Amino acid sequence: MSFDLVFFGGTGDLAWRKLMPALFQAFRHGKLPPGGRLLAVARDERSDDEYRAFIKERFVEVHSSKQPSEEEFAQFAELLRYRRMDLSKADDYAGLKRWIEEPTAEEGRSGGRADTVVLYLATSPYLFPVICEQLGAAGLNGPHMSVVLEKPLGHDLQSAQQINRVVKASFDERQAFRIDHYLGKPAVQNLSALRFGNALFEPLWRRESIANIQITLAEDLGVGTRGDYYDKTGALRDMVQNHALQLLTMIAMEPPPTSDADCIRDEKLKVLRSLKPFTAETVERDVVRGQYRAGTVDGKKVPGYLDEVKVPTGSTCETFVALRTEVQNWRWAGVPFYLRTGKRLVGRDAHIVVNFRQVPHPIFPGVNRANKLVIKLQPEDGLELHLLAVKGSGTSEVLAPVSLDLDFDKAFPSERVGAYERLLLDAIAGRLNLFVRSDEQEQAWRWVEPVLDAWRRSEAAPRPYAAGSWGPAAASALVARDGHAWDEEN
Ligand code: BG6
Repeated sequence: MSFDLVFFGGTGDLAWRKLMPALFQAFRHGKLPPGGRLLAVARDERSDDEYRAFIKERFVEVHSSKQPSEEEFAQFAELLRYRRMDLSKADDYAGLKRWIEEPTAEEGRSGGRADTVVLYLATSPYLFPVICEQLGAAGLNGPHMSVVLEKPLGHDLQSAQQINRVVKASFDERQAFRIDHYLGKPAVQNLSALRFGNALFEPLWRRESIANIQITLAEDLGVGTRGDYYDKTGALRDMVQNHALQLLTMIAMEPPPTSDADCIRDEKLKVLRSLKPFTAETVERDVVRGQYRAGTVDGKKVPGYLDEVKVPTGSTCETFVALRTEVQNWRWAGVPFYLRTGKRLVGRDAHIVVNFRQVPHPIFPGVNRANKLVIKLQPEDGLELHLLAVKGSGTSEVLAPVSLDLDFDKAFPSERVGAYERLLLDAIAGRLNLFVRSDEQEQAWRWVEPVLDAWRRSEAAPRPYAAGSWGPAAASALVARDGHAWDEEN
């Protein structure tokens, strides 16, 4: 199956930092289908070779440990082509169409157009409407074409709906691939496999056996040079509305009837619709927002958020969110789901903890701890099942905690595929399972909006926390109120 992958924003950060390295990995792993071209478009004039040199230079920065050899890069570079384009000009889309539909051998393809064409919008989202309209007007929306959209997809429900309307005017839902790169992480796919490929957990996966669920997406980095973007966004929009909620849906969804993309997405949508809606009062009680102050991360002193580049004086943007919610259905009624995410926390650590209930009647002395399943997303991905066992081989029957650890890197050493690599390959293959449907995305906005509204009206500033900590103390109190504790406090 031959393909053309077209990148709008071909010289932007996303393209050279994430997409090209991921495609290079796919190429290196022999996973890129043969007969492909990677076509970058951007505003400035440059030749194919100049573009290849541009990417090569940046690979040095991205592949710090495993640089491609000259030969490897040269082979990969043969797939790369570049074209200058003004994204507002109809003529330039007509030119793009010819480049795609009537390629020459010189342009890297003989024998007519590719079987499939993926149009990747790696531009600023404010350009999505104009690009989609122009693509539709130029006829670059045929059934063999699809469009990939990168977040942020809107900054609230209304703007997300606006983007979706424009996309739908030119493309069918089955041609629209909305990226949430967390869905491409191997541990997230393993979450599905764990739940629906094994009979072991399903009978326990419900309120009768589970006490609470915790989703943590912690980063040690600050906002870096993205202060400008981040300050208009904040942690709720940047991480909760998308990544954290997508993980929650994967944990809470009912088993889909088949692995078809819409069967999966229907179930995820139901979870989003079952989330307990926030009111002004519950936002006050169940949502904690924080902002980092100066502190120490990994032994290094780091500035506070307000001293970061391009952050406006006195900003009240949140760099941390912790919240408590519930999935209001028969399976989950009354089970708290705690979500937290933040910049400049203790470390880069993304994991989900499923805390099971205590045994109903303990008969052993010693530690009396409930079982838990930890799904580790990063830095390593793996599973830990925490159990209790009798310590040592003596005569005592004192229980002590032990864990069964599964490290996916060790279990499948050569098979690991990065998130963007996986998602790009899926987009080329037309597999929608790991992409977000418009109704899911809109429902997620609908759910976070009351929080955004309450904060907008509130006079209270985010709670300060020291960089290098686990966030404001109020986040611990939120969980302690229910008689639980975050995993590291247990
Ligand atoms: C992005 C956010 O979606 O995800 C960033 O915009 C964040 O602010 C990033 O740093 C985290 O992704 P990962 O894969 O590094 O955990």
